[in-house]
Amino acid sequence: MPALSVIKYGDPILRRKTAPVAAVTDATRHREDMLETMYEESGMGLAANQVGLDMNFMVTDISHVEEDEYPRMFVNPEIVDREGSTDLEEGCLSVPEIRATITRAEKVLLHYQDEDGADREDWFDGLLSRVIQHEVDHLNGILFTDYLTPAKRGLINKRLAEIAATGAPSTGIIL
Ligand code: NI
Repeated sequence: MPALSVIKYGDPILRRKTAPVAAVTDATRHREDMLETMYEESGMGLAANQVGLDMNFMVTDISHVEEDEYPRMFVNPEIVDREGSTDLEEGCLSVPEIRATITRAEKVLLHYQDEDGADREDWFDGLLSRVIQHEVDHLNGILFTDYLTPAKRGLINKRLAEIAATGAPSTGIIL
């Protein structure tokens, strides 16, 4: 069993902007549980509100894809600059069995505090940039399905309603 349960589409906490974290230690005490839950669910990123915490922080780990990566925590993250544009297929632990190609920035400049409380501003690219943009959206109440065209949205509305009702759609889809 994961340490925490992942909240699914339909819960209003996924639609609210999370509260700023005043002290980094308020976030770090959830770090291990967040990472464990993310690994159990085979995710690459997890935002605090996905496990019911109204706090502006997230964890990522893409080390199974990129060798030099490691588990990271970003507290009070804010994207302050973006460069380029790229398409990539995304999924979400809160929106199970629905995948879609989404256009996002190629690189992002992120202002945040790290798990040691240091104030940082770093550029990220590649897969980590993608995960960061997806998770920062979560912390602001935005889901990847919000970017779909009305036509594609029409193809998943029934599935979204099923997730809200039962936690899973009757059939998966890749858009
Ligand atoms: Ni997600």
